[in-house]
Amino acid sequence: MELILKTKGDVQASALFVPVLEERLAILKLLKSLGYEEEEALIDRLNRENFQGKKGQSFILISAAKVVVLLGSGQQKTLSVDNWRELAGQIVAYLKTYSVRDISLVASHWLRGNQDIKHLGQSLVEGLMLANYQFNKYKQDDKNQIKVDIKTVSVYLSAREKISFTKGWEYGQLLAHATILARDLVNEPASIMTPSFLAKEAIKVAGASRRVKVNILEKADVKKLGMEAFMAIDRGSNEPLKFIHLVYKPKGKAKDKIAIVGKGITFDSGGLNIKPWEGMQQMKNDMSGAATVIGLFSALDKIQPKVEIHGIIAACENMPSGTAIKPGDVVFNMDGKSIEIAHTDAEGRVTMADALSYAQKQGIKKIVDVATLTGAVVYALGPNYAGLFANNKKLTDSLLKYSELAGEKIWPLPLAEEYRDFNKSKIADIRNIASSKLGGAITAALFLQDFIKPDVAWAHLDIAGVSYAEEPLNSYTPIGGVGFGVRALLEWLADF
Ligand code: BES
Ligand code: MG
Ligand code: ZN
Repeated sequence: MELILKTKGDVQASALFVPVLEERLAILKLLKSLGYEEEEALIDRLNRENFQGKKGQSFILISAAKVVVLLGSGQQKTLSVDNWRELAGQIVAYLKTYSVRDISLVASHWLRGNQDIKHLGQSLVEGLMLANYQFNKYKQDDKNQIKVDIKTVSVYLSAREKISFTKGWEYGQLLAHATILARDLVNEPASIMTPSFLAKEAIKVAGASRRVKVNILEKADVKKLGMEAFMAIDRGSNEPLKFIHLVYKPKGKAKDKIAIVGKGITFDSGGLNIKPWEGMQQMKNDMSGAATVIGLFSALDKIQPKVEIHGIIAACENMPSGTAIKPGDVVFNMDGKSIEIAHTDAEGRVTMADALSYAQKQGIKKIVDVATLTGAVVYALGPNYAGLFANNKKLTDSLLKYSELAGEKIWPLPLAEEYRDFNKSKIADIRNIASSKLGGAITAALFLQDFIKPDVAWAHLDIAGVSYAEEPLNSYTPIGGVGFGVRALLEWLADF
């Protein structure tokens, strides 16, 4: 996909894409301005096809000279960054039916009320690349399917807009590649995507980056560190556990030291409290938090944030077997806190307890964790919003800001003090399931918070609902792994 920037001249050949409002008069005016001769016939067809400019609709104008595609953008008078991404995704949907390889855009058509030219370039390329993503390595080549292969994107803009647009375009490519890596990792079946495979992916990323180093801790190493909680969850599995620690160091003095901790259960069968088949079906995605960490790290060398970043993943499987952890067992995390394992399917919080303690042992005072932690958050927020829990207002505000920009929706939920006692155990310091079935996403977050020191700014993203799209989430997020959080967190880290 080659970007060609033009400042003047007629829009040539290829297909020109123009977003339009859901407003009949505006559409008619636009048709007029495009100068088609048979206007009557066009309006007639507009009526017959019932094109109103609604989101997702498109209307095609073909003349000998050119193809113009109107993209419905609904009632959005001012286009947001995520609207641009969505519209770019609509372009790809169009190209799946009509195989056009050269596309054109006029920036002024797209800037509608929003002059942020850098983000226009960025979100357009993100939308095009992400909408075109497919995980088909296990499929035979389908000869009848039209492959979208965009050769050139010609953009018409003013000379002074060129630099910003190009910057955004290049940055957007980085974010899209990182998201795609995370999607690939999530989509890979669990028998391939083992803790060892995940560790190899982290080693690959570090190998390709000058400023990223990785340390893989084996079972003996985590034992020495006292990670009995993590080891307990791994006990039923035949796959060796891996504790992955990635570090990015910036050029010069780091402005801050931050950890991104990802849940890395490569398959969650539930353990002895085994899941029913529907519940277990998609559980290869229980390492989505880890995928976000690795995807994000793959872009750090090029984005060059000014902060030191630690990526931390406790990777193992949760399996039932004769050696598996049993309900009622008590284990100590590396900080010496005892945990009653009342339910083996609430395994994520147990492995995270050690991963979070480990992060704090590195002297890190700012932590974001990303975890497919609870089914409850899916009931609370559905498939498009991740739950955000945080002990720090500033962190909450910036994560909300960057997630909106990235089109990765999150919504704040409370660390409700009223419910903290639900996690009390009769025989240990804490219990891994709450006494109440209600507010499950909250009690899980409160469990994690028990392992966070009060002087540490911490945010927890429960991505159980958003990590895997059962249906396309939007025009640029097809079915499968979403790679959720990669773009928002990269944007956040890049802005220090
Ligand atoms: N990995 C699951 C959570 C999950 C659910 C992720 C749906 C993605 C989609 C987690 O380990 C789990 O099993 N949680 C249990 C906790 C319960 C036993 C307290 C749940 O949510 O049912
Ligand atoms: Mg579980
Ligand atoms: Zn799980």
